[in-house]
Amino acid sequence: MLYDVVVVGSGISGLYAALYAQRSGAKVAVVTKGNPMRSNSAVASGGINAVINLSEYDSYLKHADDTIAGADGLVHEHNIKKMCEAAPDIIHELVKMGVGFDTNEDESIAQRPFGGGSAVRTCYIADRTGSAIVMSLLQQCRRAGITILTNYKLLNIIKYENKLAGISVLRRSDSQVIALACKSLVLAGGGYAGVYRGHSTNAQESSGDVIATAFRANILLSNMEFVQFHPTTLKTNGALISEAARGEGAYLVDETGERFTDELQTRDKLSREIIEHMKKGHKVYLDFRHLGEELIDKKLPSSRKMALNAAGVDIVKELLEITPSAHYTIGGIWTRPDTSTTMDGVFACGECAVTGVHGANRLGGNSLLEGAYFGRIAGYEAAKASYKKDYLPIDYSEVEKDMNRIELIMNGENRFNINAMRVSLGEMLFRNAGPFRSEEGLGDAISYVTYLRGKRYGLNCINKEKENNVELSSILEFHNALFIAEAIVNVAYRRKESRGVHYRNDYPQQDNKHFNVASYLRRIGKEFMNITFEKAVKIDVGYAIKKLLIILKG
Ligand code: FUM
Repeated sequence: MLYDVVVVGSGISGLYAALYAQRSGAKVAVVTKGNPMRSNSAVASGGINAVINLSEYDSYLKHADDTIAGADGLVHEHNIKKMCEAAPDIIHELVKMGVGFDTNEDESIAQRPFGGGSAVRTCYIADRTGSAIVMSLLQQCRRAGITILTNYKLLNIIKYENKLAGISVLRRSDSQVIALACKSLVLAGGGYAGVYRGHSTNAQESSGDVIATAFRANILLSNMEFVQFHPTTLKTNGALISEAARGEGAYLVDETGERFTDELQTRDKLSREIIEHMKKGHKVYLDFRHLGEELIDKKLPSSRKMALNAAGVDIVKELLEITPSAHYTIGGIWTRPDTSTTMDGVFACGECAVTGVHGANRLGGNSLLEGAYFGRIAGYEAAKASYKKDYLPIDYSEVEKDMNRIELIMNGENRFNINAMRVSLGEMLFRNAGPFRSEEGLGDAISYVTYLRGKRYGLNCINKEKENNVELSSILEFHNALFIAEAIVNVAYRRKESRGVHYRNDYPQQDNKHFNVASYLRRIGKEFMNITFEKAVKIDVGYAIKKLLIILKG
């Protein structure tokens, strides 16, 4: 199958990229391994930030200032300003696409406060903003005739003489390996907070498949140590109770009924404060009761339903016990402002990409915005890049390697329990690479991940059926998750300071002398990773010179 542009991922950034690539004249396919309504974008419920009413109190520069202040360093200021400037246009575009944002009595778009914002600028659809946006974008893509390949899982990037030729994917319905040729590839497959199994708001399949695949293709990764914990997730199962709850005025209280914190401080600080409070023996609850049933049903219906289904609690009348869980990952595929990566023809956007707009800590409401803004750019740039190229031949010996690997996993003898391994990986990561970290804990984590990696080839399918073999996908995902875990703990071990979401008990201060720089991860040989901390990434010095020469040559 031949496409000008293949987009991997069907969250807000992937769907935006597909639409913009198609509008730019490219033949586009979206590849998605699961249900788009389970993507992280669909889970981001509380809202999307935009300054839609310019006033003396707010401007896009103030939005940018808040984003920079909340980020705790490591930001790409230019990207932030451009993103915040484009935000109102994105909201209006979404409205035109049919997204029904909640409105005020005068029909203007309603907004709510979110943590770290100096003004009220989060647009929303009750507490199901992400899913409403994804639904509208999916309709747009279908209407535009974009091919959406659901239930296809990315395996590898196929190269011809070191250049992009296409991708190999697993068709999950019959376990066949298929090659898709493309001239440009957009990676928009989401983040990796799902590796914190049992302590994550994400679906367990959000475990960094796309990022691990990019790394195998020698694409540069960055800032993998930065994992954001959401302060308010259900104690029973880690499901998200949206920041919308606190935005609408819910309190955080302990068993005495007393409020003990500022509910709208940034997520990194609030998560740590909640855990400190819990360590002192307290339980922590969200208290909605003073908001009243009418407001709860109008603005927080999903929170009410979630609390009832997963915890048996009616938030209109009862306190809801919460705990912080891994929610969003800041690290991933390093990108330039045009979303290009270190591999020609490959672009990245959304949670799997590092654009520098979140620095070391993301503000709530900025992830959907980032997805939309960089999705637009990625689609346009990927289409533009595809015009200048021809298809390259697919090297079928590469595809055969994937086929052989699938055969081995399907036919091999299983020696371990994958669910037990996933749960213990999640537990270990939360304990040692969670909201609080230390040299000792991270050292233990490195040993444990190395131990689990040593066992990965003993994981094979018990169920040998080829039709929709969930086990096969889980094993492939777990291999990627182990790489991701290895990256998180090794980089976190080396970042000997505290910054944003990365907090080290043994280095509680920010160390701007040594660590006011991003971390980078490069692949060496088949098995090794090289970790560096660099002010300006080395690859881009060469890229800048190349660009300058092109400009000078006219
Ligand atoms: O709490 C939330 O609704 C999450 C929003 C986000 O991650 O931006």
